[in-house]
Amino acid sequence: MIKAVLTNFLDITSCFLGSGYRIRQNDNKTEIIDSEDDNADSIDKIADEIKVCRNCSLGSSRTNAAPGEGALNPLVMVIGEGPGEEEDRQGRPFVGKAGQLLDKMLASISLSRTTNTFIANVVKCRPPKNRDPYPEEAAACAHFLERQITLLKPKYILASGRVASQTLLKTSENIGKLRGRCFDLAAGNDTYPVLCTYHPSFLLRDESYKRPAWEDLKLLRSKLDS
Ligand code: URA
Repeated sequence: MIKAVLTNFLDITSCFLGSGYRIRQNDNKTEIIDSEDDNADSIDKIADEIKVCRNCSLGSSRTNAAPGEGALNPLVMVIGEGPGEEEDRQGRPFVGKAGQLLDKMLASISLSRTTNTFIANVVKCRPPKNRDPYPEEAAACAHFLERQITLLKPKYILASGRVASQTLLKTSENIGKLRGRCFDLAAGNDTYPVLCTYHPSFLLRDESYKRPAWEDLKLLRSKLDS
């Protein structure tokens, strides 16, 4: 009885509040909510869409999509190329050998995916045999990445490797030329600074590139501190 009266009252209240508001009742909880919240984008909403996405053929060959993970108002957003075997198995970005090296590199400049960094990829599903994503696959996934950037508003983007750097900056310049340099990336209504560096998989294959990669990380740290 009390519940019926309350419901009625709230229905009437919602009329006064106008169409931008709704009543939500869950078990014992009744809330007046701003219905625009239902349409608001969120990192979880994007992740849910990614997990069921079939916008390109990678959607049918993946085991799990790896939407991205990390801090929700990050200093840095790391963007890699796409999930590998371990990432595909776990549905998380950068959790294989390259990911372990990436975590160490980030830790060396006081960054981590648990506190101040978000990690994502250009494509969210593993390309078969870890081939480079095709341009049409990157294009089909681009709106997810743009929405992630726009929501997260990172202070800096670290483009990890050739594919991420070339895709983000829409260039075919080689990574040796791009690394250690900062560029502007437009996403939503804002512009974000991007620093390009070598991919950790590449550093695992050729350790001699670790020195310049370390210089890039120090540059990133100095930009964050300035
Ligand atoms: N390489 C990438 O570019 N991304 C990952 O998530 C894993 C490996």
